[in-house]
Amino acid sequence: MPAQLKSMSKAKFTVTAALPYANGPLHLGHVAGVYLPADIFVRFLRMNGHDVAFICGSDEHGAAITLRAKKEGITPSEIVDKYDGIIRKAFQDFNISFDIFHRTASEIHHKTSQDFFLKLYENDKFTEETSEQYYDEEFQQFLADRYITGECPKCQNPNAYGDQCEKCGTDLSPTELINPKSTLSGKTPVLKTTSHWYLPMERHEDWLREWIKEGKLDGVQRHDPKAWRNQVVGQCMSWIDGGLHSRAMTRDLDWGVKVPLPNAEGKVLYVWLDAPIGYISATKQWALNEGKNWEDYWTGDRKLVHFIGKDNIVFHAVIFPILLKDHGGFILPDNVPASEFLNLEGDKFSTSRNWAVWLHEYLAAYPGKEDELKYVLTSIAPETKDAEFTWKEYQTRINSELADILGNFINRALVLTHKYYEGVVPQPGAYTQEDLSTLDEMKQIPQRISKLIYAYKLREAQAEAMNLARLGNKYLADQEPWKLIKTDPERVKTIMYVALQITANLGIVLKPFLPNTAEKISSMVNFHSSDWGLAGNSDQLSTGTTINTPEIIFQKVEDSLVENEVGKLKNANMVESNFEAQKEEVTFDDFSKMDIRLGTILEAEKVEKADKLLKLLVDTGIDKRTIVSGIAEHYSPEEVIGKTVQVLLNLAPRKIRGIESQGMILMAEDAEGKLSFMTPEKGFSAGGGVR
Ligand code: 2FM
Ligand code: ZN
Repeated sequence: MPAQLKSMSKAKFTVTAALPYANGPLHLGHVAGVYLPADIFVRFLRMNGHDVAFICGSDEHGAAITLRAKKEGITPSEIVDKYDGIIRKAFQDFNISFDIFHRTASEIHHKTSQDFFLKLYENDKFTEETSEQYYDEEFQQFLADRYITGECPKCQNPNAYGDQCEKCGTDLSPTELINPKSTLSGKTPVLKTTSHWYLPMERHEDWLREWIKEGKLDGVQRHDPKAWRNQVVGQCMSWIDGGLHSRAMTRDLDWGVKVPLPNAEGKVLYVWLDAPIGYISATKQWALNEGKNWEDYWTGDRKLVHFIGKDNIVFHAVIFPILLKDHGGFILPDNVPASEFLNLEGDKFSTSRNWAVWLHEYLAAYPGKEDELKYVLTSIAPETKDAEFTWKEYQTRINSELADILGNFINRALVLTHKYYEGVVPQPGAYTQEDLSTLDEMKQIPQRISKLIYAYKLREAQAEAMNLARLGNKYLADQEPWKLIKTDPERVKTIMYVALQITANLGIVLKPFLPNTAEKISSMVNFHSSDWGLAGNSDQLSTGTTINTPEIIFQKVEDSLVENEVGKLKNANMVESNFEAQKEEVTFDDFSKMDIRLGTILEAEKVEKADKLLKLLVDTGIDKRTIVSGIAEHYSPEEVIGKTVQVLLNLAPRKIRGIESQGMILMAEDAEGKLSFMTPEKGFSAGGGVR
């Protein structure tokens, strides 16, 4: 075993996945970047006999929650109950194997984070600072973080938040925003004095540098800095090199963990202090449930690993480590495998524009297709650079990889075994050179997967697992047992024996990635093992074992699914628009019945006692006719005379205010209902057609 693997082989792990805010459901971006890689990693660790705790839960505090509550018109606690329920169920249905999925609204969490805060407070790890902060006079509330929006000073995005600009990713403080507005009243806030507890991060620059760059703490080697992803080290170092400052650890809010000090009325812990401590409180609850000692999971010789998205890097690799070290008695993270972002069909995931594929909706629409989604998301995982999910790729990956390679190989191996030997594993003869090299390759694949997973390269690891199915396919295609069965049936026994060993091994190596599929494969060959150490062995299935009848594991994805999903996305994306939805379909014949032409307005006057109407005389190129048009609030009579506009000529005449209107002027309308003529370029005159 290589030295690097050996040092890993006995390690104990506490693995966390970023606590999702309970203010909305999860979309595929969250899944691909955080929860799925964490789950693969943990399943693999368990198969290798590591002592591991896999921790997650809902993040139920912070301005994201209270603002969502306001938007939906319900209380923050109703919001978190609702979304905690949706998220929890989605994780269960998707078969994510947390040891616990906890909640930061729980009592044990409030107590744990208050105790944590107090310990730091008592040991002078905070400073108390008074500053001027924005205050909404109408709502009588200080405006923390997302309660304030304004123009980003870096990129001029007009909708940047008080804590961050989502467009350029810059961390901001509310006073940096240009033209700040309260999201509560919409008014310009005033500055008012308030005092808070701050974490003086500048005290920590030196040890952080050594720890992040060299992996050393107090001169002792703690982790391998080369094992950290470049973007993680890069983001942390550029933050530290930019100079660390003190950062407020409390907020003026009424939703959250109360600051456990006298005279701290109306103040709560900053959500970024409270959320990571959620990993600790969740571990406590799990240990209580299981009769374990929680401290074993946060101390001593154990690797702490945080799976997160890139927007959480500095919180997990700088701020939380400072807090843990200030507190004392905790290990610091061994690695923070942060993902880049996943995009969707050429655009960023966006909750407000509904440009998303929601996990719970996928699971409801495609029950039993969890592994298909896992496979696709891991294949395109945004491990080191942004990636993109498209339904077309979903189809291609499933059809030409899962179905054509994996499904096809297993089906062939099992069907032929039933056909030739009534489902009983045959007795092999002597191996040929090709058999031996195939078996040797089979042995090496699990080792390569191990190396990749311990290095957090899960995308490549899954591809390596699929290489075992490729190997099997190639082996059968080269050996052609279906031809040899007539000329050399003894040889076919050996071939099928080898093919069945490959199948049994697929049931092991696919387990971290596609647990449901691996289970199906194992059941079909009547061989179950969760021991990674056995993966690659060439005699998993002994001669004489009866296997079950094969079933088709992967159905092909039809074009219609792709079209539907893309269509759904585009429609949903319009939901938030102020424009009307598309009208019912018409045929070309319907359309061509309408006679639309250019007309020039010759005369115009107001219609008495009708604020909206103008009476127009229009030259249509074939005649001059009267048209009454509802544009008086947008154009004066003087403005319209001489304009060439679009006219529907063959609309049945109607009497409007006693005047017969012989047609209709076509107008463009914006989302606020403002009207505008659709005038052609210069040189087009009355009578010209519109098509
Ligand atoms: O960004 C988020 O979704 C936060 N709720 C993540 C918290 S991670 C951790 F600290 F819990
Ligand atoms: Zn910006």
